[in-house]
Amino acid sequence: MFKPARLFGVLFLVLQVAAPGICASKAPVRGAHAMVVSTEPRASQVGVDILQKGGNAVDAAVAVAFTLAVTHPAAGNLGGGGFMMIRLVKTGEAVAVDYREIAPGAAGRTMYQDDNGNVIKNASTVGYRAAGVPGTVAGLALALGKYGSMNLEQVLAPAIALARDGVQLSYFESESLRRERELLEKFPETKRIYLRDGNLYKEGELFVQPDMARTLELIACDGPKEFYEGTIAQLIAKDMAANGGLITLEDLKKYRPTLRKPLEGSYRGYKIVSMPSPSSGGTILLEMLNILEGYPLEKYGPGSSRTLHLLAETMKRAFADRAEYLGDGDFVKLPTSGLISKRYAVQIRATIDPFIAADAAKIGHGNPGMFESEQTTHFSIVDKDGNAVANTYTLNGGYGSGVTIPGTGILMNNEMDDFASKPGVPNAYDLIQGEANAIAPGKRPLSAMTPTFVLRDDQLFMVVGSPGGPTIINTVLQAIINVVDFKMTLQEAVDAPRIHHQWMPDKLVAERIGFADDVLQALRARGHNLEVRGTIGDCQAIQIDPKTGVRLGAADPRLDGRAVGY
Ligand code: DON
Repeated sequence: MFKPARLFGVLFLVLQVAAPGICASKAPVRGAHAMVVSTEPRASQVGVDILQKGGNAVDAAVAVAFTLAVTHPAAGNLGGGGFMMIRLVKTGEAVAVDYREIAPGAAGRTMYQDDNGNVIKNASTVGYRAAGVPGTVAGLALALGKYGSMNLEQVLAPAIALARDGVQLSYFESESLRRERELLEKFPETKRIYLRDGNLYKEGELFVQPDMARTLELIACDGPKEFYEGTIAQLIAKDMAANGGLITLEDLKKYRPTLRKPLEGSYRGYKIVSMPSPSSGGTILLEMLNILEGYPLEKYGPGSSRTLHLLAETMKRAFADRAEYLGDGDFVKLPTSGLISKRYAVQIRATIDPFIAADAAKIGHGNPGMFESEQTTHFSIVDKDGNAVANTYTLNGGYGSGVTIPGTGILMNNEMDDFASKPGVPNAYDLIQGEANAIAPGKRPLSAMTPTFVLRDDQLFMVVGSPGGPTIINTVLQAIINVVDFKMTLQEAVDAPRIHHQWMPDKLVAERIGFADDVLQALRARGHNLEVRGTIGDCQAIQIDPKTGVRLGAADPRLDGRAVGY
């Protein structure tokens, strides 16, 4: 069929539209000893306080995570889950703490479909039935017990104080509550706490959370058992039973976080260490880096139509594989080693036209070979010894399912939407997912969270991650190539405008600010279905200056992040 876009694409063959000037960025924040970068300034400060009291990166990470549950309730949480990547300098080994939610025992593959097999709107995103069994409290306690040096009481103290005495709400936090009002007012306990019964919090007002303070105190005293078997567990199970939710005492009691071996790969001589299943993050990141390694991106330049085209084509193909193959590796066989092999990247590269966009509908998944076995938030920490944490955790949507368990201050996740409610039917992020990610009791929904370390000569070089659903993987990808290929400073790499493609829908999203109009025109001419809107991601990154060991911190300017070092 005649496609005008293709004709124009051919006309543009030799016209490589130049890169826009990247806006000037501040220099990264410097810390001679240590650095904490998170999306919320008080949480970053809490992390640094813990480090200055002699805590290590894991102590600080657990303190920051509990603090974010108080100061950034849209994503910081007790009722959700996530992944903590830890790298200890003593062994040089990295480990991934998987504290992803699991589907309750009573969950089933068609639980969000009506009698005709159609997906019921909002069933997997709003209310009690949308919640998976939370992993955060167990995961943080496991990380602390195994890799930390402080006890729960010490690392919980700052969060308890902030919940009990109140936090002065920033513009970002008060706006977030206002924006999500429609969801929050659906549930009386949530409305009472987060909307002050309809009298919305304004910027600068004190937000006091006595229920949350009590819950945190109970966890500080009695540990995670309190949450999974004690009075908190009983409150959760009772409220679930009364409102058609599925999570039972038995589900809570059975929940276990898991230690996993991170995925490793390389990119232009750097080692990439990232999150394995049940995240798709590490797999898809490595697949994309392998494909891009075959192109002289440095020569093509950041933000040029040629670079952006290759990025988009790479993203499309990797996300097509995600849709087909990925799910919880404890339940389904994953072709991970094939997907992240250099040989597979050669095959995929051969399908990419360097000038013309492929029609996503015609891109099937590849054949990787052998099988083997706002909203979310990310923070990065490096301590004085060089131990590092990359932690991404979430309730999934902002404020999760909207449900707060009465008397606890605990907002529950809506992570069940990360499963395929029906294979082939898009979820809240428009992601198409396959059989491998169908719902089953005890299974973890497929994630895109991508907490990642980059090493150079086996030394820690970068710690990076972001929220943003499927865009997470592409945000991390672009942060890495901005540093490695385009030699940007860390802050430039984080600030630089981003694109996103996830195969389906066949749409290349570009951030509203930062791409020159002629670059966008050139992408359209190559046949990309371009949508220019908003911002993508909220990347919090640290780099170690290889010469001096100074920790360089870069918080994403898109939200309210802060890098604090000492
Ligand atoms: O695990 C995942 O991939 C999603 N639940 C993450 C959601 C997210 O990042 C929302 N943030 N903007």
